[in-house]
Amino acid sequence: MSTTVTTTTLESTKYQLSEIKNGFGAEIRGLDFTNGVNDDDYRVLLDAYGAVMIRKTGLTDETHIALGRKFGELDDVTPYIKAGRKNRCKYVELFDVSNVEEDGSLVDPDSPRGQANKGNCLFHVDSSFNPRRAGYSLLLVHELPPPGNGGGIAFADTRTAFDEIDSETRRALVDNDYIAAHSIVHSKKLAAPEHFADVDPLKHAMGRHHLLQRHEMSGRMNLYLAAHIHHIEGRHDSSEFFDKLFRHCTQDKYVIEFDWEDEGDLLIWDNTCTMHRALGGTFEGKYRRDMRRVTVHDSSVHAWGLNEHTNVRQGLP
Ligand code: OGA
Ligand code: MN
Repeated sequence: MSTTVTTTTLESTKYQLSEIKNGFGAEIRGLDFTNGVNDDDYRVLLDAYGAVMIRKTGLTDETHIALGRKFGELDDVTPYIKAGRKNRCKYVELFDVSNVEEDGSLVDPDSPRGQANKGNCLFHVDSSFNPRRAGYSLLLVHELPPPGNGGGIAFADTRTAFDEIDSETRRALVDNDYIAAHSIVHSKKLAAPEHFADVDPLKHAMGRHHLLQRHEMSGRMNLYLAAHIHHIEGRHDSSEFFDKLFRHCTQDKYVIEFDWEDEGDLLIWDNTCTMHRALGGTFEGKYRRDMRRVTVHDSSVHAWGLNEHTNVRQGLP
């Protein structure tokens, strides 16, 4: 993959920022949160980027949550705890994106949780299947497998992909203002068809969102696409149409990849203008990989899509 990297050292600041792929992504070194999170430190992160990797932040569970709160109201895992899943993390604002069980042992890749984790390897956005979708996600590394065992993350630029889509498809998207139905059960089943063979997505709630929408922060149009999309309403050829859009948006030219390097690396992304996927690796069932995510509820005009405003939530994470 060819990636353009330009390095800018911002005046009067201590950190260094490298832009990736014309400003779709960025990597920051030298931004340290060990002594807490002050307003100046987080402002720069909000700028124009779809995804920003900040190396060696020095964040803890507490300051990770504090940083998340600067971006808006936080989602939490209380519905899943009520549903019977034990929380390994100390706070309900931390979504456990690890392969570690509550007792510290490794998640068996063949177990229900191991099978469900596979869904993260498909390009997706966070929480589009819930009534209120996620805006920003902040994923912090606590423990990594030894180098060379995989586990990076990729992002697709769904605004630029829409800008460059063929004119016939653009016309269809603009003229019809399609609604897409997002289901966590659908994407989990796609990623692990045998395990979820008997689960019918139509028997579970879905989140409904406009497929083409204006990204509030940038004013650019965005294709709000994800492997969670079970169908596009009003299209008889829904799955072919979805596949065509998905293939277009996930071409190498729209995708950037980040490797995790150290404990304390933090990745912040905007779910309302990007898709992401776990790159997986050979660590599954072999090495611990402890990642925790703070998820910020979207506050834009599209936050609830066409959904009822309720606090009910589906699935993890
Ligand atoms: C997430 C996610 C992928 C990964 O935290 O939302 O999709 O690599 N993570 O853990
Ligand atoms: Mn995710």
